[in-house]
Amino acid sequence: MAKDVIIALDFPSGERALDFLKDFKDEEVYVKVGMELFYKEGPSIIREIKKLGHKIFLDLKIHDIPNTCKGATNSLIALDVDMINYHIAGGKKMLSDASEIVKNEKSDLITLGVTMLTSTDEDVMHRELQIDKDKSLDEVVLAYANIAKEANLSGIVCSALEVPKIKENLGKDFITVTPGIRKVKGTDDQKRVVTPSEARELGSDYIVVGRPITKAEDPLKEYREIKKDFLGGK
Ligand code: C5P
Repeated sequence: MAKDVIIALDFPSGERALDFLKDFKDEEVYVKVGMELFYKEGPSIIREIKKLGHKIFLDLKIHDIPNTCKGATNSLIALDVDMINYHIAGGKKMLSDASEIVKNEKSDLITLGVTMLTSTDEDVMHRELQIDKDKSLDEVVLAYANIAKEANLSGIVCSALEVPKIKENLGKDFITVTPGIRKVKGTDDQKRVVTPSEARELGSDYIVVGRPITKAEDPLKEYREIKKDFLGGK
């Protein structure tokens, strides 16, 4: 069920990100901080954004041996972010060790799995990653989502177009976070895009929207329109 819009803060510096957030001083929003910004600025950018009252999806796509992954999870719990993610390819033990810590230390932290990156097509999946050549990309995505559920993650990042199948197989409470959102189709480099209202109809829980908001002439107005469209006038 449509819950919130997450703004992707894909900026090269903390200064640019904080400057952008000035428009949102009277509005508490959910933002996504990715590797570019986090590796540049470190935990200080998270503290700054938290001070402004916003929620944070820290998109670092953790992938390592279970013990290292546990340590990374502990560090992110200390940062008090609201959503984090892991590569499901790290395996069920890596994921379940992490979700166990989250359950004990910060049970409201949303943990997501990353299935197959959208930059990986079926050919690359078979030829380079050497993943089961008898399985289609869609089948592998669903199998990966199952592993995430079995490891007690809260949900996955996926295309809105995949949401009905995911919900049908894994239940409506399994959270789906979906990028690739455009008000009008055929802009930027996103190929399989859906509109905010289509994402709601498909059952997406959170949509991730970057450039349509960050590059808008009036980002706050654009954000409000997209949010209204996604929440369906709620
Ligand atoms: O600007 P745009 O709305 O395309 O930004 C989408 C955000 O979602 C970016 O931060 C991008 O890295 C992220 N993302 C994506 N596709 C995925 C996973 C993440 O576009 N499969």
